[in-house]
Amino acid sequence: MPLKVEKKDLTGLTVLITGANVGIGLETARMLCEMGALVTIACRNAQKAEAAAEDIEKTTGNRPEVASLELSTLETTATFVNEYIAKHQRLDILINNAGAFTTEKPQDGLTQDGFEIDFQINHLSHFLLTIRLLPLIKYATQNKINGFTPRILIVGSNAAQAGKIDYSYLQNADNIPFIFNRYANSKLMNAMFAKKLGDNLKDDGIVAHVIHPGFVASDIYAKPDYKLPKFLISGMGFLVKATARSNVQGAMTSVHVAISDDAAKSSGKYWDSCKIAAYPNKSINDDSIVNELWNKSEQYLQEKGFDV
Ligand SMILES: NC(=O)c1ccc[n+]([C@@H]2O[C@H](COP(=O)([O-])OP(=O)(O)OC[C@H]3O[C@@H](n4cnc5c(N)ncnc54)[C@H](OP(=O)(O)O)[C@@H]3O)[C@@H](O)[C@H]2O)c1
Repeated sequence: MPLKVEKKDLTGLTVLITGANVGIGLETARMLCEMGALVTIACRNAQKAEAAAEDIEKTTGNRPEVASLELSTLETTATFVNEYIAKHQRLDILINNAGAFTTEKPQDGLTQDGFEIDFQINHLSHFLLTIRLLPLIKYATQNKINGFTPRILIVGSNAAQAGKIDYSYLQNADNIPFIFNRYANSKLMNAMFAKKLGDNLKDDGIVAHVIHPGFVASDIYAKPDYKLPKFLISGMGFLVKATARSNVQGAMTSVHVAISDDAAKSSGKYWDSCKIAAYPNKSINDDSIVNELWNKSEQYLQEKGFDV
């Protein structure tokens, strides 16, 4: 059954979506623009972002703002946040959508900040961005538009099922696990981050959720840097074509959680196919693991000179 979301008038609401020039993020941005929100798409490639904004404007009549965001460095992430805060007073919906499934090691195995790349892009930089944007989200809760509950949505993945929290390789190029594991581990962190955010923000009237978009035929499985055997790549291509959701269908759960009254009634939940589902990994229920991840994330950032 195709997924559907009820349209809502989002006029006056401010939305920020990371990595929205293609795939699930692009279709999420398109739907929210269609409903009248002021959307910013934060992307690493200016040309691709402008093309996406033009495409969205053509199909909805509402052009999103474009902002430059490279999540593989903490400095560029922090710069993006400063620029966003300088331009905006409020943030009603934050969607941490950008994600990397990196198949190639960066030159020395780690980013220039010294972290494994999927960890930094998928979790740590989004952690920094989210915490630093909280004052704008808090402002939105104190100045609600049409009773709308401000929210944070993290695009995770069922890959978290196979994930585990392993700090041993995050700053050690010699210890980096197989590509799927690094991705799965970072997606487990997404779920833990959403759960803890939900707890921490309870008294502020902000909700936070993590979603699984489904298996979606986006670009994430078609990156040119694959160093996998050809038979695996073509096998994966076949599997994607035969079974995957379209990007529009992949965006439905994000949009549902971003706008529905339903999603404002709870916090820290895991959503799949527009419904609350069980956490994909039992360690998400273990508060000591979740709290440790939060504390370590703060510590990693502080060690690099980024207070949160
Ligand atoms: N597709 C699936 O089946 C599936 C399943 C579960 C979860 N997800 C999650 O869904 C989210 C969206 O993925 P998608 O499937 O739509 O993939 P996609 O088409 O590859 O889009 C990923 C987006 O993230 C951006 N991005 C990657 N690295 C970045 C960086 N260093 N700085 C800033 N932006 C960066 C990409 O920018 P560029 O265009 O410049 O590369 C792109 O805009 C991801 O979080 C992914 O983990 C996807």
